[in-house]
Amino acid sequence: MTEARHPHPKIHDVIILGAGAAGLMCAGVAGRRGRSVLVLEQARHPGEKIRISGGGRCNFTNLHTSPANFLSDNPRFCRSALSGYTQHDFIALVESYGIAWHEKTRGQLFCDGSSRQIIDMLLEECRKAHAQLRLGVRISAVSKGEDGFVVVSDQGEFRGRSLVVATGGPSIPKMGSSGFGYKIAEQFGLAIVTPRPALVPLTFDPALLAHFKDLAGVSVDAVVSCGKARFDEALLFTHRGLSGPAILQISSYWREGQDIVIDMAPGVDVLAALKGLRREHPRQEMVTALSGLLPRRLASVIAGGVGGPDRLADFSDKLLTDVAAAVQRWHVRPAGTEGYRTAEVTLGGVDTSGLSSKTLESRSVPGLYFIGEVVDVTGHLGGFNFQWAWSSGVAAGRYA
Ligand code: FDA
Repeated sequence: MTEARHPHPKIHDVIILGAGAAGLMCAGVAGRRGRSVLVLEQARHPGEKIRISGGGRCNFTNLHTSPANFLSDNPRFCRSALSGYTQHDFIALVESYGIAWHEKTRGQLFCDGSSRQIIDMLLEECRKAHAQLRLGVRISAVSKGEDGFVVVSDQGEFRGRSLVVATGGPSIPKMGSSGFGYKIAEQFGLAIVTPRPALVPLTFDPALLAHFKDLAGVSVDAVVSCGKARFDEALLFTHRGLSGPAILQISSYWREGQDIVIDMAPGVDVLAALKGLRREHPRQEMVTALSGLLPRRLASVIAGGVGGPDRLADFSDKLLTDVAAAVQRWHVRPAGTEGYRTAEVTLGGVDTSGLSSKTLESRSVPGLYFIGEVVDVTGHLGGFNFQWAWSSGVAAGRYA
């Protein structure tokens, strides 16, 4: 698949920047239409985020994918691409390669084997479509001339009638991720919705950290809300603050200065349970009572935090209400997030108002496309971000 060096650069029909999930998908689809496709990738290996995704098993889509699983300034934008190439289409592709998969939970589909299988499948699709791939390319400039786009790099100049930007977002900078795609968008006059880390752990200030320092590693099923957003999944205390699926999900909605509200015993009426225990076991200590509902270490910190008496019999109704509130209506104000260093994705990106939702082509610069994470469409945790990469990649691949 590697292109031979030509003394005179040929004009490709389509140049794709980035051999990640969206770029590889797009390359295969455009190539199958008979378009000559060249993919330029800065890294030594294609699909590195696919490789590390889903703990090495790639949560490649979600059975329940719908536009409601995505955040964007224009929540309707993703509809066309998602319906043009659905989770079922991608599952059919995976199955056509004999890749075994399973549903882990909540519609999240993972490879039985390894995420490498998804990368190999995408590369094979590119090979069948005669799409060419160049790795380790340092791109220094992109411009548009009369007959298309010119990409200047340390491996020479490349020319393409269409240019597809699939360079992802800046999350996990140590993998070489950057805001490169935003620079191209700005160069061509497209607006950017301010990017921010998403699906990212939240951090505590030093006082909160000191209070919860013994809880690192404790996990509990929870309902976490922020404004109207609400997720019931696991929550994990960390050395920096909070993580776990419920927190990663809410991080996409949380903004600095806001509280999140956490119910650590969802589905349980903790006040009623405590009143019952006070009646039946008045000599029981609060920490023992709470340990029936929560992990022991967490029970101990909550009992200590309320600062009441030891035995249930000595708790007034008011104090019991306070304890129940600490378990079920814990208002906590994170200091921040762990940032792009650990964020799974980036919120914001190329403003969809400048793009066609059907083709992902720029409305103002014919032949210029943006797909995948670089666009202001961000999925929930659970395979939705890859589905957006596949769907937007296919949409552009059908037209570029
Ligand atoms: P992606 O980042 O995949 O690809 C962009 C490509 O462009 C990269 O190969 C990059 O090197 C290249 N590039 C960047 N700048 C360039 C330049 N200047 N020149 C040339 N090339 C350049 N999602 C999901 O649905 N299920 C999951 O299980 C996971 N798990 C997961 C784990 C971890 C640790 C992370 C960080 C992320 C996930 N995700 C995920 C999110 C998912 O990885 C992400 O949404 C997609 O990879 C986005 O696909 P893109 O093709 O848009 O970008």
